[in-house]
Amino acid sequence: MKHLLKMMDLSAEEIIEILNLADQLKYEQKHGIPHNHLKGKTLGMIFEKASTRTRVSFETGMYQLGGYPLFLSSNEMQISRGEPVEDTARVLSRYLDGIMIRTFKQEEVEKLAEYGNIPIINGLTDYCHPCQVLADLLTVREYKNKLNGLNMCYIGDGNNMANSLIVGCLKVGMNVSVACPDGYHPDKTVLDFTKDYKNFRLTSSPKEAAENADVLFTDVWASMGQEGEAEKRQIAFKGYQINDEIMSVAHGDSMVLHCLPAHREEEITAKVFEEHANEIFDEAENRLHAQKAVMVKLMG
Ligand code: CP
Ligand code: NVA
Repeated sequence: MKHLLKMMDLSAEEIIEILNLADQLKYEQKHGIPHNHLKGKTLGMIFEKASTRTRVSFETGMYQLGGYPLFLSSNEMQISRGEPVEDTARVLSRYLDGIMIRTFKQEEVEKLAEYGNIPIINGLTDYCHPCQVLADLLTVREYKNKLNGLNMCYIGDGNNMANSLIVGCLKVGMNVSVACPDGYHPDKTVLDFTKDYKNFRLTSSPKEAAENADVLFTDVWASMGQEGEAEKRQIAFKGYQINDEIMSVAHGDSMVLHCLPAHREEEITAKVFEEHANEIFDEAENRLHAQKAVMVKLMG
């Protein structure tokens, strides 16, 4: 494993190795056991989109590992004035030990990896969000003590979260049911990937997808960069909501997760959100532990 560009690149074994290391690092942090695995290393963090969790968890995580996190707002870099990503990659490779990037195009992340010679971590693109899904799997395993054989359901936009969840959950042996409205399906590359899996279902019915679910996921109807489509999406996604009616067909002890930020009364009701707030905020915390594991694996 040289980079973390998308879930598709990871084997099931690599995913489990990252989760196991994350558990260990979480234990060490909670018990005050030093874990300076990245002493003297620097991580550059390029942000072309807003962030609360990703920025703070990477920055804090790098500090806890004894390294130095360098926040780089893309609009203050020459990249915003047209310097090619190919050149940026080769320059930053001379200074840094790794780069985390959040941007629009997946292509840009892949190019950084191709032209640079340091590990690249995808902190979200329009296509995928692998760091979030590693934290999600860590959280599900904490609550359910297993992953293999669990029924997962995703309701909403076939966006970056859906793309990474489908691939990640199938790889670890979960049964995956996804409900998206027509015209908002997951990416074609992801649907092609699912063809090898009998335990994958795509439907337009949220209730059908939620039946017997052990864990339910959703995400915003309009992602970063899609603000202009918000009104149109409000109409398209009506009914694609995790609410009491949906929860009534899921398992009695099912979990609800949300990558956050959440829009209450859109993709999830405030009631269901608050009933599952412990899980959702454990999930947010686990960004820290999962990403520390990724950094140690790639940069240690
Ligand atoms: N879930 C997530 O990636 O949050 P931020 O956008 O706050 O980083
Ligand atoms: N789908 C959302 C996820 C945010 C973490 C977005 O891309 O804005």
